[in-house]
Formats: sequence, structure tokens, C-alpha cells
Amino acid sequence: MNRKAIQELTVAEIVANDYRTAEVFKKHGIDFCCGGKKTIERVCRDKAVNIDLLQREIEAIQSTEDISEHAFNEWSLSFLIDYILNVHHAYVKRNMSLITEFAQKVALVHGDHNPENRDIAKLWDSIVSDLTQHMQKEELMLFPYIKKLDQYSLGELKQFPKAVFGTAKNPIRMMENEHDLAGNLMKHIEIISNNFTPPAHACNTYRVLYAKLQEFQNDLHAHIHLENNILFPKAIQLEDVSLSLVNNCEV
Ligand SMILES: [Fe+2]
Ligand SMILES: [Fe+2]
Repeated sequence: MNRKAIQELTVAEIVANDYRTAEVFKKHGIDFCCGGKKTIERVCRDKAVNIDLLQREIEAIQSTEDISEHAFNEWSLSFLIDYILNVHHAYVKRNMSLITEFAQKVALVHGDHNPENRDIAKLWDSIVSDLTQHMQKEELMLFPYIKKLDQYSLGELKQFPKAVFGTAKNPIRMMENEHDLAGNLMKHIEIISNNFTPPAHACNTYRVLYAKLQEFQNDLHAHIHLENNILFPKAIQLEDVSLSLVNNCEV
């Protein structure tokens, strides 16, 4: 949907289409319930809200997949891992080089007048290098082990899987620390980019860079949520239960 079309929609229509946008209106103090019949154009004028910023925030939410329909908690751990790999790891790999190219270009062209873009390019480089190594550890060590645990618990694997890292708790603690680091680097970019808001004079590359960074942060939050809050606690629980069964059998 183009920008003009969004401006002509009412607040209620946008929220009805995608309830996740409600949080954007809430943040700007816009009534999306009883007073939702006003168009975006009108409500921004009445409330003195920057319409470009509001639209970018709405578009960032609309461009990410609505994951609330998925019953992640009911999925097998192997299926959840495949989802994380195919959706989130693939997203990171697909977008890293494009964002790097844009971040370097914007830092070079606009760095004198908007020096925060040089810091953004450096922070982004750290994110790329950290996340590349982080995902490799998950893909080569932790996830295959969790998949084997899952297969063992279903009787598809006869031997309890051996791990080079002791128990899953060790790499999981490391992965959670690395999630915090990546989340903090993105938060730093969010702050110095003024909540991913390019200045009025920004060229298209500048605008696309900020929009992609915001999209990347949204994806990272969903990715980390699935690992920290669903996959990892379930893997630890499954390992504990399976180990106690193994130990009981050996007694
Ligand atoms: Fe991951
Ligand atoms: Fe991770």
C-alpha cells in the first residue's frame, strides 16, 4: 500500500487490518478505539504527530510476519529449530550484506553532517561479525544436539546423544549472553538514529537503510524470543528428564 493510501485510511481500519499496529498509536497517544474513525492525516494534524515517522512505524510492523498465529509452544523442538533456521537465520543472512553496503555508503556520503552514521556503520559491522559466529555455533553445535535429544525422547535414536560441551546449559548460557550483546548493539543504533528516523534531507539510500535497520531489529526480537523463551527452556527440561531416565536405567 502506498503512503498516500495509508494516510487516507482511518486509525480503526489500520488496527482492524493488523492489530499489532495498535502499539504505534498507543505510543503516540492516539485513540485507536472509540476515536478511531479519524484518518491518519487528520489525527496527525490534530495531535501534532510527525506523519512520516508514524507511517514508517506502521510499515515496519506490517512488513514483519504476524507470528501470533503460530502455536510455537506446541511444536516439536526439531520443527521449531527448522522454523528458526528457515525464517530467522535465513533473514539475517539474506539482509546482512545489503545493510552493510547501505550503512557504509551513508556513513561515507553523510558522515560529515550526520556523524552518527559513522557510528551506525561501526556498530553494524560488530553485529554482523557477532551474529555470524553466533549462528554458526547454533547451527553446527547446539541445534544438532537439541534435535538429537528430541529424536532420543521419541525413541528414534537409541543412544543418548553425547555433547562436547557438557550439558546444553553451558552453550545456552553463552547464546543468551550473545543475544543480549546483539540486542544492545541494535538498541544503540535505535537511539543514535533517533528511533530510525532519517532527517528531512535524507536521500533514498539513507531512508532505506533506516527502514531496513528497524525491520532487522524487529526480526531479531522475534528470533531471540523463540530461542530464549521457548527453545532453550524446553531443551534444558528435555535434557534433564532424559538424563534422569538414563541414570535410573544404569542404576
Ligand atoms: Fe538463532
Ligand atoms: Fe541465537
